[in-house]
Amino acid sequence: MPSSSASLAPGPRGVPLLGSLPAAWRDVLGLFATTLREHGEVARLTFGPYEYYLVNDPEVVKHVLVDNAKNYTKSKSYDGLRLVMGNGLVTSEGEFWRRQRKLAQPAFHKDRLASFADTMVDATEQMLGRWGSEPGPRVVDVHAELMRLTLSIVGRTLFGKDLGAEAGEAAEIGEAIRVGLRHANDHAESLIKLPQWLPTPANVRFARAVKTLDAMVFRLIEARRRTQGDEGDLLAMLMAARDDGNEGMTDRQLRDEVMTLVLAGHETTAVALGWTFTLLSQHPDVERKVRAELAQVIGARAPRFEDVANLPYTAQVLAECMRLYPPVWVFERSAIGPDRLGDHPIPAGTTIGIAPFTLHRNPRFFPNPEGFDPERFSKEAIAARPRTAYLPFAIGPRQCIGDGFARMEATLLLATILPRFQLSLLPGFQPEPEAKVTLRPRDGLPMQIDRRKVEEARATHHATA
Ligand code: HEM
Repeated sequence: MPSSSASLAPGPRGVPLLGSLPAAWRDVLGLFATTLREHGEVARLTFGPYEYYLVNDPEVVKHVLVDNAKNYTKSKSYDGLRLVMGNGLVTSEGEFWRRQRKLAQPAFHKDRLASFADTMVDATEQMLGRWGSEPGPRVVDVHAELMRLTLSIVGRTLFGKDLGAEAGEAAEIGEAIRVGLRHANDHAESLIKLPQWLPTPANVRFARAVKTLDAMVFRLIEARRRTQGDEGDLLAMLMAARDDGNEGMTDRQLRDEVMTLVLAGHETTAVALGWTFTLLSQHPDVERKVRAELAQVIGARAPRFEDVANLPYTAQVLAECMRLYPPVWVFERSAIGPDRLGDHPIPAGTTIGIAPFTLHRNPRFFPNPEGFDPERFSKEAIAARPRTAYLPFAIGPRQCIGDGFARMEATLLLATILPRFQLSLLPGFQPEPEAKVTLRPRDGLPMQIDRRKVEEARATHHATA
């Protein structure tokens, strides 16, 4: 790109001293969308004393995440997550991160994933058993149900323990996770960071939540030490790992990796599926096509690992749902040395925001961006776009390690739930995305679940076939 046109990226001025912070507090998704519309695909925001470059051009995104990835670390906003996750895969950096990533990678290998499929389906069947225990339609909070289900799955597959099994324990852990992530989020958003040891009500609540979570993780490690078995799961791998000096991981490090995977690995998938059920309920024609594909490929039996690759339309639908509602709606980097974002020079220390939420609505690559259309993910349509126009799992060295795990899980859960239940939004209720650590539905996801409707639909289908 011509260097003669090099200039500071344009952006909104916001209000004195605070810049765009009040606008971000009010509605960060709206702020990002307006900024990009008015100032272009590389825009500069000020948040109090900090500058923040929002990048929505896939070429520049590729530069930051792939081509010049060495020049970037994660930004300060991960300090909030570090309070809960410690120094695990999501938050660690450099050689330490590389070693831990190499260690964990085999647990996410395709052959390994295959062995998780039955557990995923089995856990879903258990949830459906609960759903079906009362006859007739009723209303459940589908978001809460999916959170419990994915927590149970991540525990069973990676650590050999069903964290969502006992209603009391699951509720306690669920609440501790909610408090922990809310605190992490508030910490990231606040300009003035009070020390964690100050006994403010929020800090006390947070400390209690971390204690609950720590106790859960240490119980997990302890139980495994007692049995001394090699269950062959991720926990076993992490516990067996030795560094060059033949040292194993400390309990603290094990705790950080386990906590990281529990947190990174369940809410994201639950959120993805929640929005999928929302969009399917709003687009019955698409839902019918998904049901038809499931009926044709799987029929009446339980879904299996091999089915996942044979459900291309279902995969397109999931991809389109994560386009509109990417569970990780933004991720951020910090420049180690000076660099250029397209035409615009940036100094060392600049924070870069890459927001799948806005990236996926770039009208250059997604015409009619708000429209729901799974055909955007046909093979031809994908090939016609830059790879970095669509990044629900990021890209480059820090790409999501659970990408394949999550895609398989979302497909199997949908394939288990949809043939048995009709999920409908309540009349007049439109779930709103809340841009926190993940893009949760703000008021949960109350939906009517009805097993009869599907059975009726099946009967109608048979009668007319
Ligand atoms: C739909 C579900 C999921 C989505 C949308 C998602 C998205 C992402 C994204 C965007 C990142 C990069 C974050 C950044 O660069 O700041 C990431 C990282 C990560 N994800 Fe996921 N994720 C999902 C599911 C999972 C699952 C199921 C697991 C594990 C069981 C997992 C574990 C991780 C870990 C450990 C990292 C950090 C990787 C590293 O830096 O080496 N995620 N995820």
